[in-house]
Amino acid sequence: MRPYLIAPSILAADFARLGEEVDKVLAAGADVVHFDVMDNHYVPNLTFGPMICQALRKHGVTADIDVHLMVKPVDSLVPAFAKAGASMITFHPEASEHVDRTLQLIKEHGCKAGLVLNPATPLSYLDYVMDKLDIIMLMSVNPGFGGQSFIPQTLQKLAQVRKIIDESGLDIRLEVDGGVKVDNIAEIAAAGADMFVAGSAIFGQPDYQAVINQMREELAK
Ligand code: DX5
Ligand code: ZN
Repeated sequence: MRPYLIAPSILAADFARLGEEVDKVLAAGADVVHFDVMDNHYVPNLTFGPMICQALRKHGVTADIDVHLMVKPVDSLVPAFAKAGASMITFHPEASEHVDRTLQLIKEHGCKAGLVLNPATPLSYLDYVMDKLDIIMLMSVNPGFGGQSFIPQTLQKLAQVRKIIDESGLDIRLEVDGGVKVDNIAEIAAAGADMFVAGSAIFGQPDYQAVINQMREELAK
């Protein structure tokens, strides 16, 4: 398996000091910036769009930006996020009219592409598109809010997806999003995840480096 990636979700950052917060978390050893886009339609909350992503790039952020689209429709935002500096774009298949087309659109715009499956979304959405995926992300909470508890059934689902990825022989990241903390990251990794989104667990602590170090220690066990 490839090196583990820790992706802090800026949903839990102080928006009034977003540039500083992102600098701080990257200096603390984060690998990727997770960027939660909510539209008050696909999910009952509203966050930020391409302009904020672009502002982070302009601020000097060079790390990968992992744009998690919780929006419906999806396609209209893809070119704007690619232009704004997204490195990866993931979306929920239920929110796209044509999943294969959306994946192609993301790739045509030079970004890595991925599907996000909610806790109750079946794995059959992966059928027929595996060759177009760079990332499969499993939601371990229902999307829309930070600070929720990890849904334990996700562990079994992660193990199933890990098997599907390994059997495919394809180079696909298995990302997990929601309720990831120092005290559960080891078992989540053992179930097969190799990329970890954590919002409140990191930004909710005064010392980001200490949390990220603790997460890496857990991952090394
Ligand atoms: C939820 C978002 C998550 C969320 C994770 O819809 O996709 O990225 O911010 O937050 P925590 O780590 O606080 O559960
Ligand atoms: Zn997310």
